[in-house]
Amino acid sequence: MTDVHLARTLTFDDDPTIAGPSAVRFHERGAVVVDDAGRIAWAGPADDLPRPFANAPRIDHADRLLTPGFVDAHAHFPQWRMLAAPGRDLLEWLERFTFREEARYADRMHAEAAAETFLDRLLENGTTCVAAYSSSHATACDALFAAAERRSMAIATGKTLMDRACPESVRDDPEKGIEESLDLIGRWHGKGRATYAITPRFAITSTRTQLRLAGELLRDHPTCLMQTHLSESVREIETVRALFPEAASYVDVYDRFGLTGPRSLFGHAIHLDEAELTRLSQTGSVAVHCPTSNLFLGSGLFDLARLANLDRPVRVAFATDVGGGTSWSMLATCGRAIEIARLKGGDLDAAGAFFHATLGGARALGLDREIGRLAQGFWADFVVLDPRATDVLAVRDDLSETLEDRLFALAVLGDERCVVETRVAGRRLHSRSRT
Ligand code: GUN
Ligand code: ZN
Repeated sequence: MTDVHLARTLTFDDDPTIAGPSAVRFHERGAVVVDDAGRIAWAGPADDLPRPFANAPRIDHADRLLTPGFVDAHAHFPQWRMLAAPGRDLLEWLERFTFREEARYADRMHAEAAAETFLDRLLENGTTCVAAYSSSHATACDALFAAAERRSMAIATGKTLMDRACPESVRDDPEKGIEESLDLIGRWHGKGRATYAITPRFAITSTRTQLRLAGELLRDHPTCLMQTHLSESVREIETVRALFPEAASYVDVYDRFGLTGPRSLFGHAIHLDEAELTRLSQTGSVAVHCPTSNLFLGSGLFDLARLANLDRPVRVAFATDVGGGTSWSMLATCGRAIEIARLKGGDLDAAGAFFHATLGGARALGLDREIGRLAQGFWADFVVLDPRATDVLAVRDDLSETLEDRLFALAVLGDERCVVETRVAGRRLHSRSRT
């Protein structure tokens, strides 16, 4: 059955910060037609609705804002309970809470229940696609893929590879880690909406052998993604320098093992020199900005404007980094990204932030022909937002004169309370009753 959704609609053809305002497609009264396969059959101004859809059932979202579902380009499934776990910095936080919590995912029953909650939390926040780290246990990764499949959600995940500097309960070894990854690739990669992400945690917890094998796995499976952490905290960088004295830089550690490239997602990427940025740019690698996490762990301030330098642009995506991040919400993530951009002396407008949270994330994951836009043929993964969801937002919304004014308030003040409903492949998987 075909449905017509009516709302204020917003989608991007490109990054408005670079391409200009013509990349923003906003309709005060827009229509999105969803076919019975869960794809968008048509999108545009409601007045132009093609005749064949004129008598289709209508779902009227009134003055609410309908946008593509959010893409969270970096989150940790086994950390879903861990938001606001103390730790003076990244390394203390990992040792004190994180590894212990992730050890629980050896238990299949625990992992299966957690996978349901993890995905439901994302949907409650309007996130319809995630690149997630599973734990180091293959069964947990299976559980997450299976839970996403039941929801028809696009997901990228992989078992975390870590063969040193962590408790035995979460440690693998190079051969076993690759064997399990291969097995998971065979079972899940390209099945439905699933993508396998080869996931060496970071250079501290992987030996050279493991990083080499991960690079070979990526070379042999070039349609997989690769995700890892890069240059997040000062102590981490010092440790990497001591562990890999032969490497010119932290980026070089990964580069030597074939782990850079257009399918590679580098979480955080905060403290980088020009040579590293140039190499990320040359290889088409993606830097994933995790603003709430960086503020919480005191890791540093991501320099979005510096990465965007057109002489050697580095691709960027936005992410929550649950549970180093303090919010599940990509709205809150956009808000903190705007604030951090200001602290770095730059400027990120709300339209640019919404682009990163939608089409930008889809591009980073190589899914931009499938998701991230309201356009014919794309999956009907979308979210309906209420810019007046709270008293604070409602009075602020009264002052909004432009789309940017409204998006700005949603980003800076918004969270899951603004998410009226979330649809995946046209199916409503979350709805929030009005308070
Ligand atoms: N670096 C290595 N592992 C992690 C993690 O789980 N979270 C964050 N934020 N950084 C990491
Ligand atoms: Zn992370």
